[in-house]
Amino acid sequence: MAHILKTDNLTKSFGGLLAVNNVSIKVDEGSITGLIGPNGSGKTTLFNVISGALKADSGKTYFDGKRIDGLPCHLIYKAGLVRTFQVPRLFQKMTVLDNMLIAARGLVGERLTVTFFQSWAWKRQEEGLIKKALAILEMLDLYHQRKNLAGNLSGGQMKLLEMGRALMADPKMLLLDEPAAGVSPLVVDKIFEKIVELRQSLGLTFFIIEHRIETLFNYTDRVIVMFKGQVIAEGKGKELVEDPKVIDVYLGEY
Ligand SMILES: Nc1ncnc2c1ncn2[C@@H]1O[C@H](COP(=O)(O)OP(=O)(O)OP(=O)(O)O)[C@@H](O)[C@H]1O
Ligand SMILES: [Mg+2]
Repeated sequence: MAHILKTDNLTKSFGGLLAVNNVSIKVDEGSITGLIGPNGSGKTTLFNVISGALKADSGKTYFDGKRIDGLPCHLIYKAGLVRTFQVPRLFQKMTVLDNMLIAARGLVGERLTVTFFQSWAWKRQEEGLIKKALAILEMLDLYHQRKNLAGNLSGGQMKLLEMGRALMADPKMLLLDEPAAGVSPLVVDKIFEKIVELRQSLGLTFFIIEHRIETLFNYTDRVIVMFKGQVIAEGKGKELVEDPKVIDVYLGEY
């Protein structure tokens, strides 16, 4: 199977702390791949480096056959590699639909976008985008919430909206940083079922950080385990639960 994402010896340190230490990973195209590891393992930092939010100290990243490390994050986003955040970054006082439309303009400075967006002329030009946004909201079971303020959504719906905003970019691959963080256990499965559906219907590749290991094992093809900045194991959930290195790391924590 082709690799849509590959890193070679990526390294990122903060002062003396090696947050990402020589990380070489591969993600299969069309897969749902998980990324786990105790708090502070470097998972979010790895996403930040891959997505261009942070510059790696050294190492290479390839996406869709092209080298992307060193590119500014808006070009990586344009290439189809889009990430979401551990804490949703929504405009609470704007409607769900407006949050989607702004995401489509997410590459312009946020303040400028809001002003520009509120102009009537802009709205007229963006009918195509509105159609697209509504279709995505429909896929995420958020269509009925389109006129509601984002701040009034449930935690789970906010996480889905965050994913919807990422989908406005027509991504090839999504990096999801804890897409089910802080939502009730019942909703966690709903979010992961949506991810499986989106992989099917849109042919997307997913790379997902998640703390609920059992959930992640249920929905992923492969999981990569990080600890103290390094990849210490990778494989299918079944293999990992028996891997002494993984057990050690988690027993150490709990
Ligand atoms: N901007 C930063 N400046 C300094 N240190 C940072 C910065 N970002 C992360 N770190 C440190 O780097 C290490 C890795 O952090 P990171 O957020 O990548 O971990 P994580 O695996 O995502 O953890 P969590 O599961 O808690 O989200 C931690 O020790 C963290 O304190
Ligand atoms: Mg994190």
